Amino acid sequence: MTTAILSALPEEQSSLLQHLAQPQRVMHAGRAFWRGDWHGRSVVLALSGIGKVAAATTATALAERFGVARIVFTGVAGGVGDGVQVGDVVVAQDYVQHDMDASPIFPRWELPGYARIRLGCDAALSAMLLEAVSAYVESVRGLFDSKLITNQPRVHHGLVASGDRFVSAAVEAQGLRTALRDAGHDVLAVEMEGAAVAQVCHDYGLPFAAMRTISDRADDTAHVDFPAFVNTVATRYAEHIMLSFLQKL
Ligand code: ADE
Repeated sequence: MTTAILSALPEEQSSLLQHLAQPQRVMHAGRAFWRGDWHGRSVVLALSGIGKVAAATTATALAERFGVARIVFTGVAGGVGDGVQVGDVVVAQDYVQHDMDASPIFPRWELPGYARIRLGCDAALSAMLLEAVSAYVESVRGLFDSKLITNQPRVHHGLVASGDRFVSAAVEAQGLRTALRDAGHDVLAVEMEGAAVAQVCHDYGLPFAAMRTISDRADDTAHVDFPAFVNTVATRYAEHIMLSFLQKL
């Protein structure tokens, strides 16, 4: 049973790669897939690429070519929910594509052919991930020495929205959040890949779970500290959390 760990950016993946015993690089669909052992667990590490199509291609390859048993995503996201601050972690409960709009043929945000707006993550896998995230965040509370985090980190579990846009304007983030909330979908965070991976996993019957460290508030300064945050905070979170998550499998 192989577990795939997907990251969006190479920086996010680098700390994970160091843990692989007997790493084997396999090129497929123009991507590098790293097979190996992580503390006795069979894993494949891959980059999702950025955006929904790239992520769907990677997830499909993981299902078809690598026959993985489950996919877990670690990455960063912009916080849009109340109280979702930089340094917090969101574990996805389900996903919506905020840029899906086939109206008036289908209701706004509905996935044509799926008769629904949201796709859920696997409950059992997400519960394990939530446990690993909560334990880590608890352990670093008050200790995390980064000037990029000004609040005590917290953990959230709920709806995440994906779309092919880096949201970097407060007015856009608020508009997106309000429109979805008025339709009963209260979004915690935005990113660019998770909903696509959730859809591929749904199609292949693969359990999927995702965690996103909040790197910004999807506002006008969203891009400013993004690279530094990914390098110094998100990679450390991902490394520690994946280690304890894999031990729970
Ligand atoms: N990933 C991290 N921050 C993001 C943002 N503001 N919009 C989309 N994806 C993101």
